[in-house]
Amino acid sequence: MRIEIPREAERFGANHIYGVQKVYELDSGLRQDAPASENSVIQNLPYETLYEIERDMAIVVPIRDERLKLLEGVLFGIPHQCTVIIVSNSRRAPVDRFKMEQDAVETWSRFTQKQLLLVHQKDPFIARALAEAGYPYILDENDLVANGKAEGMIVATLLARILGKRYIGFIDADNYFPGAVYEYVHEYAAGFALSKSPYTMVRIAWHSKPKVVQSQLFFAKYGRTSVVTNRFLNQLISYYTGFETEVIRTGNAGEHAMTMELAMLLDYATGYAIEPYHYIDLLEKYGGVIESAHPEVMQHQVNVFQIESRNPHLHESKGEEHIDDMILASLQVIYHSKICPEPIKREVLRELYRRGILSKGEEPAPPRIYPALLHVDLEAFRDALMRAPYAEQLETIAQARGYRRRLPRPTVTPPEGDGSEQVATPA
Ligand code: GDD
Ligand code: MG
Repeated sequence: MRIEIPREAERFGANHIYGVQKVYELDSGLRQDAPASENSVIQNLPYETLYEIERDMAIVVPIRDERLKLLEGVLFGIPHQCTVIIVSNSRRAPVDRFKMEQDAVETWSRFTQKQLLLVHQKDPFIARALAEAGYPYILDENDLVANGKAEGMIVATLLARILGKRYIGFIDADNYFPGAVYEYVHEYAAGFALSKSPYTMVRIAWHSKPKVVQSQLFFAKYGRTSVVTNRFLNQLISYYTGFETEVIRTGNAGEHAMTMELAMLLDYATGYAIEPYHYIDLLEKYGGVIESAHPEVMQHQVNVFQIESRNPHLHESKGEEHIDDMILASLQVIYHSKICPEPIKREVLRELYRRGILSKGEEPAPPRIYPALLHVDLEAFRDALMRAPYAEQLETIAQARGYRRRLPRPTVTPPEGDGSEQVATPA
């Protein structure tokens, strides 16, 4: 892949948020094809570089009652070297949609010899494993994992962790273009290849979202929710740095990836707030405005890359109603952030009143936040899953990638000799 190096970076404490990077060639060939001198503003990441990273990557596909054809298309687009983890919250009755997914996935993985794990979000083995591992926070009143994409993503992150994966990337199951999926995975790998920090996140900024407007195909650049979310996140940064910025373009990026080190450190918000909350959590924890619980990480950089995809993003249309829900969820986490100053809070309220999402005088409810996975007892989690019907599959995937029987306790101490940047405390 040939990709431009980031032209701008906003530094906020230990966080480096890089401006959107464009891709100039989706596939730049093998290492041997690289020309002797490279243009300094464009980085060449040969296929082998991306391949090596993707071998250590789990791609998580959250799904709830999507059309099977769409799920299949997404699977077709994921490079062979990635491990696929599908967390499904699809209906079991009156039609057992999960069983249909199982059948489709089984056929496909037989044809492709793919490393793949499909679990149901309401699987009692997972719920028990979470309880035994000391992470009951995402369980509901029935002692099963609660509904929600975020909850499914948390389960998948722990599964990827016990499978020994170093990177985790998320791709929604309702994507119409296998080619876009294929591209996102390579862009995740490109971000990790460019990063010098063990704490790295890569977020996809869509090139465009096709829509039909007055019988014509129109390629919209910005999502209606993300315009609002990005504006407020940028305002929050500007408030502290004193310089207006538009650096954040991916406030609601459902398609994103993280190093496992970072995935274990972040707190997670429920529902559609999960993606904007990534930014809030990073700004709060490593921004230097309030004291960090992880001073070790403050010594390093936390890198956020935003890469603009070339394929258009076309996903299932689920109606207009939930745009307001998504805006509310996004603004809720900004409003309730420990570092959100009064003027921005007032502006958030004005926005919500203006849109009729809240009535005058109302305040958004505090968001539901799940604690970081750092203190999950991974041994207990894995041991509990060894009683599940898919235990053998877990073992097979884990062993294929140098699985260690005894998992180390999670640590926040990054490897030596990396990221020697000074921490710039915001003004
Ligand atoms: N496991 C699981 N559990 N998956 C779920 C659940 C659940 O309870 N609910 C939804 N999903 C799956 C869907 O099947 C889909 O694959 C994915 O999660 C995203 O859900 P959508 O309902 O398609 O969300 P969206 O398209 O409105 O929003 C997406 O894009 C936004 C950015 O524009 C999401 O990824 C948002 O999180 C993101 O902010
Ligand atoms: Mg969708």
